[in-house]
Amino acid sequence: MSDLGYVPNHVARSLRSSRTGTIALVVTDVTNPFFTTIARGAEDAASAAENLLLLCNTDEKEEEEVRYMRMLVEKRIDGLVLVPARNGSESLEYARRNGVQVVVVDRRASISGIDNVRCDSEGGAQQLARLLINLGHRRFAIIAGPKGLSTSDDRVRGFLGEIGNSGIEHSMKVLYGEFTPEDGIRMSLEALQAEKRPTAIFAANNFLAIGALRAADSLGLKVPEDLAVVGFDDLPPRILPYPFLTVAAQPAYEMGQQAVKLLLRRLDGEEGDPQEIVLPTEVIIRRSSGDPLKQ
Ligand code: RIB
Repeated sequence: MSDLGYVPNHVARSLRSSRTGTIALVVTDVTNPFFTTIARGAEDAASAAENLLLLCNTDEKEEEEVRYMRMLVEKRIDGLVLVPARNGSESLEYARRNGVQVVVVDRRASISGIDNVRCDSEGGAQQLARLLINLGHRRFAIIAGPKGLSTSDDRVRGFLGEIGNSGIEHSMKVLYGEFTPEDGIRMSLEALQAEKRPTAIFAANNFLAIGALRAADSLGLKVPEDLAVVGFDDLPPRILPYPFLTVAAQPAYEMGQQAVKLLLRRLDGEEGDPQEIVLPTEVIIRRSSGDPLKQ
C-alpha cells in the first residue's frame, strides 16, 4: 500500500461499514480545566481505538447544544459523549430519533435509557461538610450553580443533608448562580455581608471557589484565618504555584476515558440495559479549610 501511495477512502469505507471512525465530545465550558481534563481522557481512549474525536463547546447554552447535535448528526458521526447544558432532553431526543448513540457524562440526563458516567457529587459534598463540622464551623454558606442542574443539586443536597443529620446548632445560607468566577464573587459578597457572616463557604465548583477567594480578599478577610473555603473540582496542581484549595476532586480524566470506552463498546454492538457508572471523588485537604480551633 505504501509503495503504491494508497490512502484508504474512509468515506467509501464508511458507506459500506456505516462507521466513520469519528466520534464527538460536547462540553459546556471548554475554558474550565475540569472539562479539558475530561477531554484528555476521552481523546486518549478514542485515539487508542483509532477513532477521531471532535470537541464542541456549548457555553452552557441549550440552544447551542441542539445546534451542535443537528450538525453532528448531519456529519454522520458514529456517536458522541455529551455534557448536557441543563438536562439534555431536546438534543437527546433528536439523537435518539436519528439513531445516534450517546453517552452522557458528568451531569445526568432527564430522559431514561441513556448511558451515564459521572462522579458521586452528593458523597463528595457530604465529606466536605463533615470536614467543616469537625473543624468547629457552625455558620455556613453554599454558593451553587443553577437550580435543576444535577451536579449542583446533588452537591447542595449532600452538603445540607450532612449538616442536618449532624444535629449541630448552625446557620446556613444557600445562593444560586452560574458556574463562573463572577457569580462566585457576587454570591460570596452577599453571604459575607450578612450580619453574622458565615465562617465557611462551600463552593459547588472550581470557578465558584475562585470567586469566593476573590470576594474574601476584597473584604480584607484572610483564608483560612477569617473564613474557610472548600470547593468541588481540583484545579490542575501542576499549573498552580502552590495548591491551596481544599476540594472534593472529581476523577475527570477517568470520567472521559470511561465515557468513550462505553460509547465504543455500544458502537461495537454491546447491548444490555443503560449503564450508570458513578466514580468516587477524592477529598484533598489543603490550607483553605484551615483549622479555626487552632487559630
Ligand atoms: O467545574 C465543573 C463541574 O462543575 C462539573 O461537574 C460541572 O457539571 C459543574 O457542576
